Amino acid sequence: MRKWMMLAMVLAPLSVAMAQEDEFGPSWPEGPGREEIGYFCGACHSLDIVKQQGLSRGHWDELLTWMSEYQNMPPLEGEERDLYLDYLAANFGEERSGGSAAMPAETRPAGPGGQQGISLAPLPIRPRN
Ligand code: HEC
Repeated sequence: MRKWMMLAMVLAPLSVAMAQEDEFGPSWPEGPGREEIGYFCGACHSLDIVKQQGLSRGHWDELLTWMSEYQNMPPLEGEERDLYLDYLAANFGEERSGGSAAMPAETRPAGPGGQQGISLAPLPIRPRN
């Protein structure tokens, strides 16, 4: 009898926590296109790969092109592309200081200048101009 009570006490808060968990994980910001973009970009890889970026709109644009050309991402065009770029640049833009909402600064590696959360060294696969 007491074992059951123990179990209930352990499980009850757990199920509450699970119900509150967002399907896009923590720190997927509110904004136009949030759900659509979350499903689309999360289809192939973790959204963490998106959250850890800080790119200008132009660089997001290049990255989407690169992903379509080399990673089989269905191309995004016209208004849809604008929606995506607006969302990405607004939430994961270049000017994110100290790690933004996406990741606390402490958890991000120091950038080339030794400053926390300013920029991650680009991986070799990212296109550069
Ligand atoms: C069809 C599959 C697919 C879709 C959809 C997709 N990606 Fe990717 N993405 C990839 C692959 C493959 C890689 C490279 C391999 C890896 O690092 O896992 C990648 C890598 C990335 C990277 C890392 C680039 C770097 O410099 O390391 C970012 C950022 C990224 N994707 C963002 C996005 C965003 C934003 C979206 C939604 C607009 C998206 N992806 C949708 C397949 C996809």
